[in-house]
Order: sequence, then C-alpha cells, then structure tokens
Amino acid sequence: MKFKAIRIFEEEEKTFVSKIVERSIEELPEGEIVIKVAYSSLNYKDALSSKGNRGVTREFPHTPGIDAAGTIVSSKVDDFEIGEEVLITGYDLGMNTDGGFGEYIRVPASWVVKKPKDLTLKETMIYGTAGFTSALSVYELIANVKPADGEILVIGASGGVGNHSVKFLVKLGYSVVGVVNTEAERDFVLSLGATRTISREEADNTTGKPMLRPEWAGVIDTVGGNPLSTAIRSTKYSGAVTTCGNVAGGDIPTMNVYPFILRGVKLIGIDSVNCPMPKRLDVWNTLAKSWKGKNLESGVVEVSMEGILDKIDEMLAGKLVGRVILKHS
Ligand SMILES: NC(=O)c1ccc[n+]([C@@H]2O[C@H](COP(=O)([O-])OP(=O)(O)OC[C@H]3O[C@@H](n4cnc5c(N)ncnc54)[C@H](OP(=O)(O)O)[C@@H]3O)[C@@H](O)[C@H]2O)c1
Repeated sequence: MKFKAIRIFEEEEKTFVSKIVERSIEELPEGEIVIKVAYSSLNYKDALSSKGNRGVTREFPHTPGIDAAGTIVSSKVDDFEIGEEVLITGYDLGMNTDGGFGEYIRVPASWVVKKPKDLTLKETMIYGTAGFTSALSVYELIANVKPADGEILVIGASGGVGNHSVKFLVKLGYSVVGVVNTEAERDFVLSLGATRTISREEADNTTGKPMLRPEWAGVIDTVGGNPLSTAIRSTKYSGAVTTCGNVAGGDIPTMNVYPFILRGVKLIGIDSVNCPMPKRLDVWNTLAKSWKGKNLESGVVEVSMEGILDKIDEMLAGKLVGRVILKHS
C-alpha cells in the first residue's frame, strides 16, 4: 500500500528541498505499531529539521513531524489494538524517526499514548508538544504552589508553551502575570485571563544583585537566560520555578545558591521528550479532564501537506501567527 509523505532531501551538500512523495509502510523504520496519522502539528523542531538542521535530524531523506495523532492499523503488542485512537509527542518521532508529516508512521509501542477520551484527535494536536510541555510545567508547579500563595509569573507568556500555561493556571484559580514584549502580546495574554502583564525589561534585572525583592509565588519559565535568573532571584520563600526552554539563552547568569538556601526556592527542570510513560499518561488525562478550556480552536490554522511547507517558511521568518496543525486526507 502506498501513502503520501513530506520528505526532506539533501540535493547537494547542505542544500535541502521538501517534496511530497509516495512511500510504503515497509520503508518506515521498524516498530510494533503502525498508525494512520489523522493530524500532526508544526513545531520549531519540524521547521529546523525541514531545513536540514543536523542538531535535530542527522540523516536525510527524512520526514519531519514530532507530533502525531491517529488510528492504529497494525499492532504486534497486546496493549494496543487495531482501531484504537492514539497520539505521540516527543521521543525520537520526527527527529531521526519518520514523523507525522507522513500519512503513516511506524513506532515502538513504548512511545504510544492512548488518546484521552475527553479530547478529540484534533484537540490532542492543537495541544501537541507545546501544550504537553506546558501541562507538565503546570503539573510540577501546582504540586508546590497553591493559588493563595500569590502570583505566578509566566515568562514567554504569548508563546506556544507560555500561552497554554496561562490558560491552565487561570482555569485552576491562580493569579497569573505574563511577561510580554508588545502591545499585541499584552492584549493577547490578558485575553487568556492573566491578571496583569510586565514588560520584558522588567523581567530582566541586570543589576547583578544576588537576591531581588520577593515577588512571585511561582514561575513558569520558557526562555532561560537572564529572565530565568531574575525570576529565581525574585521568587518568594518556598516558591517554585519550572524551566523548559532557552530562547533567551542557555546560561543562567548571576546565579548563586542564595535563593535556594535562604528562601528555599525550588528549580524544576521540564523535559517533555523523554517524560516517563506513567507521568505522561497522568498529565494527558489530567489536562483532558479538568484543564481543557473553551475556544481551544481559536487561533488554530488547519493546513494540508502542501500548506504546511509555506507555514514552515513563515515560522522560520518569525511571521507565523497562531498554531498550525496538519490534517491528513
Ligand atoms: N523542555 C521541553 O521538553 C520543551 C518542549 C517544547 C519546547 N521547549 C522549549 O521551550 C521554549 C519555548 O517554546 P515555545 O514553543 O513556547 O516557543 P515560542 O512559541 O517561540 O515562544 C517563545 C516565547 O518567548 C518569548 N521570548 C523570546 N525571547 C524572550 C526574552 N529574551 N525574554 C522574554 N521572553 C522572550 C517570545 O516572545 P516574542 O514572540 O515576542 O519573541 C515568545 O512569547 C523553546 O526554547 C523550546 O525549545 C522545550
């Protein structure tokens, strides 16, 4: 049986082109489960992979798509049956294993999550890796900080991970302060239910002081760098800070032990890629049951295989607005 997939080819050294090609299941990597993919979504890693970034994908030709949701068409294990609706985010999907930008994927059973019954396949991909990473961050934060403890700062609040974090926290009764850069971002973050916003400059203290005025009961950081350092130094006694990203830098400058040993601040690392399966299932099911908000589809752009290639260019040019999901026919 033949199916369609986006394939990235290296034509000459370091020149990469995207084509829609026909493939067969036998050409896919080994795995116990074959899934007919209904939806995938566009993530930054997919854009990098599609332009030949070896930090994401070592070997070409390759099919990107780090997220996929669909129906099982073949299973070699007892835990999964033909016809079951499932999803995958993370692991090696779309990186060095052909991903969700193809109509079929073949993967190890250990990567597969049974779709929570309160989400549709499409909704799981509207969340995708960004939504799951956000849910993981919130899951860790709320284990340490309660709404009565004070305000939660979300750094990168208008971004993929950040905007879901604002929504989840608001739904859970927390008072949220978003870090934003433009008026449009401020309006967007306030529309999600944040109590107030602060500017990027206010969230980026460059005085070098080892401790700052304690302001935040908790912090969801998605950018790293000095904004993360500022947030740790501004967290109140016993507060918690989660960190998942590095868009503002991989270092944590001006950091020292004092917030940890004098205020008992906890720093919690978030990894969505290899998150263990029991926790992964718990987070997806919690999100589906009690954190899912209304208007999930607002700002979502649904495209075909042809359409996603244009969206990749928009993403890399910093012009992409909204969440892009790929619907296979
Ligand atoms: N650990 C994991 O498992 C995991 C999973 C998914 C993503 N991530 C990482 O998490 C990070 C966020 O991902 P995303 O999908 O949310 O990215 P995104 O959609 O690009 O959002 C990034 C956000 O950060 C803001 N920002 C950029 N530079 C900033 C700075 N210097 N100070 C404050 N805010 C700044 C952006 O604002 P503007 O739009 O105005 O620039 C935007 O709101 C990335 O580093 C990504 O690699 C990690």
